[in-house]
Amino acid sequence: MGYPLRRLSRLRKSERMRRMIAETRISIDDLIMPYFVITGEKAVEPIESMPGICRVSIDNLIKETKEVEQLGIPAILLFGIPEKKDALGSQAYAKDSIVQQAVREVKKEIPAMVIITDVCLCSYTVHGHCGIVKDGEIDNDSTIELLARTALSHAQAGADIVAPSAMMDGQVKAIRENLDKNGYKKTAIMSYSAKYASSFYSPFREAADSSPQFGDRKLYQMNPTNSDEAISEIKLDVEEGADIVMVKPALAYLDIISRIKDEFTVPIAAYNVSGEYAMVKAASQREWLEEEKVVWEMLTSIKRAGADIIITYWAKEVAKWLKR
Ligand code: PBG
Repeated sequence: MGYPLRRLSRLRKSERMRRMIAETRISIDDLIMPYFVITGEKAVEPIESMPGICRVSIDNLIKETKEVEQLGIPAILLFGIPEKKDALGSQAYAKDSIVQQAVREVKKEIPAMVIITDVCLCSYTVHGHCGIVKDGEIDNDSTIELLARTALSHAQAGADIVAPSAMMDGQVKAIRENLDKNGYKKTAIMSYSAKYASSFYSPFREAADSSPQFGDRKLYQMNPTNSDEAISEIKLDVEEGADIVMVKPALAYLDIISRIKDEFTVPIAAYNVSGEYAMVKAASQREWLEEEKVVWEMLTSIKRAGADIIITYWAKEVAKWLKR
């Protein structure tokens, strides 16, 4: 008794004092920079709906990764765009396909970089679905076998972490077993555990040329109405061997991140997806928003909710802002 309500107003007097009592900080170590890799040489293809982001050939990916390394960003996440697609997505797991080559060459040039690879079939199948289609439906069990092959081929190329994003049941277990059996016990798995059937992925689908040609992804990605289901998905993935779990998208699902933080002790990654990037870029190009300030606020909310790791197309920009 005797003390007035404790308020921080005395400590908000200056930027420096505000910094001293900040509860949430964005660090360079939180960030992962995604890349879309294409075949060819000296290729740079801008993605219209994602200003500042391009598809790059491997030589340019190496240049980019050197810059990322210099900025101090610990990891990159690779998506491959193959030259040919087929019904079985065979370029996803071919030994010398685009991602496998990219991983090998980046590892050789920048050995310290943590390389994470997306493990999915949607960019590699003619129909654009994340799995194999049988009788007009996605066949879970034959798909997970191919995902396990894909993950192994990435590990053999030198990937440090594989990131299955197809939302097939049992995919983490199938991948873990195949990696272990082949001597890749140290390759980690970052699972897209709570991946929602979201409309925030449209710019990505332009970038990765991965739009489903019929139907949609609602049969295997989660319904945005569900929160308990995310907890079950995470629990299963952790039991199956996921080392990091992911929530995706991030901003419309901060409550999910926060619940997972409360209920589990596993590291949590959040994917600040293409649509979240596109919205802010578009508005700031019109000077309707101040990009840098909005990005700080968004990334802070993702961390405050409980994410340990943030995958964001702003990673390089944030790294530069942090260095000022
Ligand atoms: C592939 C995959 C998608 C994204 C990451 N991996 C698209 C999808 O599920 O349709 C989206 C990432 C983004 O929007 O930035 N399954």
